[in-house]
Amino acid sequence: MSFDWVNLAYLIAIVLFILGLRGLAHPRSAVRGNVMGALGMLVAVVVTLADQEVLPIGLLAGGIGIGAVLGVGLALSIKMTAMPQLVGLFNGFGGGASVLVAGLAILEIAGVIGTAPGEPDLQLSIAAVASGLIGTVTFFGSLVAFGKLQGIVTEKPVRYFGEQVVKIVIGAAAVSAAVMVVLDPAAYEMFWALVGISAVLGILLVVPIGGADMPIVIALLNSYSGLAAAATGFVLSNTILIVAGSLVGASGIILTRIMCVAMNRSLSNVLFGGVGGEAAGDGEDDVYAGKIRSTSAEEVAMILKSAHRVVFVPGYGMAVARAQTPVRMLTEAMESDGLEVEFGIHPVAGRMPGHMNVLLAEEDISYDKLREMDDINPTFPNTDVTIVLGANDVVNPRARENDSPIAGMPIMDTDKSRTVVVIKRSLSPGFAGIANPLFARDNTLMLFGDGKKAMEELVSAYHEA
Ligand code: TAP
Repeated sequence: MSFDWVNLAYLIAIVLFILGLRGLAHPRSAVRGNVMGALGMLVAVVVTLADQEVLPIGLLAGGIGIGAVLGVGLALSIKMTAMPQLVGLFNGFGGGASVLVAGLAILEIAGVIGTAPGEPDLQLSIAAVASGLIGTVTFFGSLVAFGKLQGIVTEKPVRYFGEQVVKIVIGAAAVSAAVMVVLDPAAYEMFWALVGISAVLGILLVVPIGGADMPIVIALLNSYSGLAAAATGFVLSNTILIVAGSLVGASGIILTRIMCVAMNRSLSNVLFGGVGGEAAGDGEDDVYAGKIRSTSAEEVAMILKSAHRVVFVPGYGMAVARAQTPVRMLTEAMESDGLEVEFGIHPVAGRMPGHMNVLLAEEDISYDKLREMDDINPTFPNTDVTIVLGANDVVNPRARENDSPIAGMPIMDTDKSRTVVVIKRSLSPGFAGIANPLFARDNTLMLFGDGKKAMEELVSAYHEA
């Protein structure tokens, strides 16, 4: 294939990637964005294969077939709540693939593989070293993140004496090994030593972070996997890999920042703070004693019957309980009675970006009803009933207090609505591990129970009321 045609096809693929990313910025255009990104990747893969004679076609088709079966099987069988760890695993594989390509390039330079020793080239060896270091950190860091979310590795932050010093020493050892490989790429053993040191670094960087912060770590590792891929693009002199890697690197870091801002945490606090392992335990008795009013599905149904405007604020508990179907059923019933129903979506409700949007979209709940936090907050004083379903931290008014662990975290102002109904199983805290004064407010009613069961009871009670 001529160079011009290859570059033209790559340009088309790059435009499709960028349009794809743009589409992913909004739930309404996300599916289209996904399709565009996938199409761009198809163009990139087909053109690269046509341009370079890489493998016997049978072997290649076999690899693509096995990958496709595994990918489709995993995507169909995985639970929505397990999506962060699946993404984490995919990031890790991306990083691992970059390391293998960089390793082969170094072996080629050293003359271990290929017909003759390759020409040592400074750009190539720097790129191979960057790919080896970042890719290995990504692979092993992602495995730990996966293990924490899957419950294979302890979710608690693993802290130990001299932790920062140990990490600095290992980091310095990795940089020294990297410099040695750059100076003498033919000494290929040093590259694999670099991979070994980087593996330890990857594990040590993620182990001290609490399980609940893993979605942020996974977004960051996603960015690293992009950087490793971009470095591999320089190793292979492949433009599309450089651009695609840079796009992943940039979008991963932007997503990391969005999540940190939505939690009012700095990235260094996430990486070195060790939050999320244990409850902050701030006197639940003082907050709740004698002030909790529990209710029944029948009572809530009566209140809803006389309401004009109802807002749902879903959280992690809705995802765990898979309560979105009865939510849709109650929404339809209330709307057919002429009530105005909307959904308030906090940017970090649940455990991954867009978690609530995806669950509600599964039920074909119109995007027009889904309103972002800043948009819906001013409407709470005019809301008759707010149903907080399995959400806790994102509705905790303690975020407005300077001395609380979640001080400054933007929250949904549900406490300003006329009546708040909170559906959860107990008074247990959420991810931040602190009591929630919303549950003890005069205008709050607690409907205790599993999210799905409580919602189903509420749907029946509403129809009977
Ligand atoms: P949380 O504060 O974690 O609270 C979830 C609540 O759901 C719990 O209090 C729990 O109470 C309830 N729950 C659990 N299982 C339930 C079930 N089967 N039925 C009904 N309720 C159930 O959730 P949130 O308000 O969505 O806030 C998310 C938190 O995660 C924030 O602190 C955020 O910073 C953090 N976080 C989010 C992300 C992203 S990207 N979304 C990333 C990292 C961290 P019971 O046990 O009493 O039922």
